[in-house]
Amino acid sequence: MSTAVEFIHVGKKFADSTYDAVRDVSFAVEEGELVTILGTSGCGKTTLLKMVNRLQQPTSGTIKVMGEDISLVDPVQLRQKIGYVIQQIGLFPHMTVGSNIATVPKILGWDKQRITERVDELLTLVNLPPAEFRDRYPAQLSGGQQQRVGLARALAADPGLMLLDEPFGAIDAINRGNLQDELLSIHQKSHKTFLFVTHDIMEALKLGTRVMIMDSGEIWQFDTPENILKHPADAYVEKLMDSFRQGYAFALERKSMAGERDG
Ligand SMILES: Nc1ncnc2c1ncn2[C@@H]1O[C@H](COP(=O)(O)OP(=O)(O)OP(=O)(O)O)[C@@H](O)[C@H]1O
Ligand SMILES: [Mg+2]
Repeated sequence: MSTAVEFIHVGKKFADSTYDAVRDVSFAVEEGELVTILGTSGCGKTTLLKMVNRLQQPTSGTIKVMGEDISLVDPVQLRQKIGYVIQQIGLFPHMTVGSNIATVPKILGWDKQRITERVDELLTLVNLPPAEFRDRYPAQLSGGQQQRVGLARALAADPGLMLLDEPFGAIDAINRGNLQDELLSIHQKSHKTFLFVTHDIMEALKLGTRVMIMDSGEIWQFDTPENILKHPADAYVEKLMDSFRQGYAFALERKSMAGERDG
C-alpha cells in the first residue's frame, strides 16, 4: 500500500491574522483510507483540506500527494485528479445540473455519449432521477439536492482522491443516512482515498476508518473510531466522546420509552 496524502510539519498563517490556522501538522493517510476530520468551527479543517489541492498555500512544511511534493505540481493538473466538494456547495449557477457534473469529464475530453451515461449514472447514485433533474439549474434545487449534485460532480471523473468538506451538512437525517451508506459502499468498492470533514461526531465515527480530531489548528488525536472511544488522548477528546455517548444513550432511552408507549 502506498501513502496517498502526507503532511510534514505543515503550518498555515493567513497574512492578516495573528494566529496559525493550521499549526505544525504532520500525518500520513494510506491509499484506500476514509479519514474523517472532526473539530469545532474555526479549528482549521477547511484550511487543511484546501492545502491538499493547492487552493491554499502552506506557510511552512511540505505536502505530498501520491508521493509527490505538490508545490512542484501544476495546480490545475493536480486538481483534475482530486475530487472536491466545497463547504458552500459551489455549483456553477448558469449551468444545468448535467453540465455541472460533466465539468471535469469535458475538460478531460470524454466523448458525448460517455459523458451523458456517466451523468445519469451519478444522478441515480445520489438519488436524483436523471430525467427530472438533469436539465434543471442549481437555483431550482433545494440545498440538500445541490449538495448531492456537488458530490456527483466530484465523483465524475473517478478521481483516486476525494476531498469532502461537510458534504452532507444541508441534508436531512434520512437522506443523510442513505448518502452515508452510499459513500461507504463507494469506498468499499473502490480504492479511493477520502478526506471527509464533518462537525458531526456520529458521522465521523460511522464513516471513518480513522478519525482525525482537530482543535485550534492542531491534531489532538488521529486513530480508529474504536481506539478514540476507548482511549481518548486527552480531556478535550474525552469531553467530545462523552457528549457523543450521552446523545446516544439519550436517543436509546427515548426509543425504548417510545416502544413501551406504542407497544
Ligand atoms: N482567507 C482567510 N483569511 C484569514 N483568515 C482565515 C481565512 N480563511 C480562514 N481563516 C481563519 O482560519 C481559521 C480556520 O478556518 P477554517 O475555515 O479552516 O475553519 P473550519 O474548521 O473549516 O471551520 P468551520 O467548521 O466553521 O467550517 C479560522 O480562524 C478562520 O477565521
Ligand atoms: Mg470549514
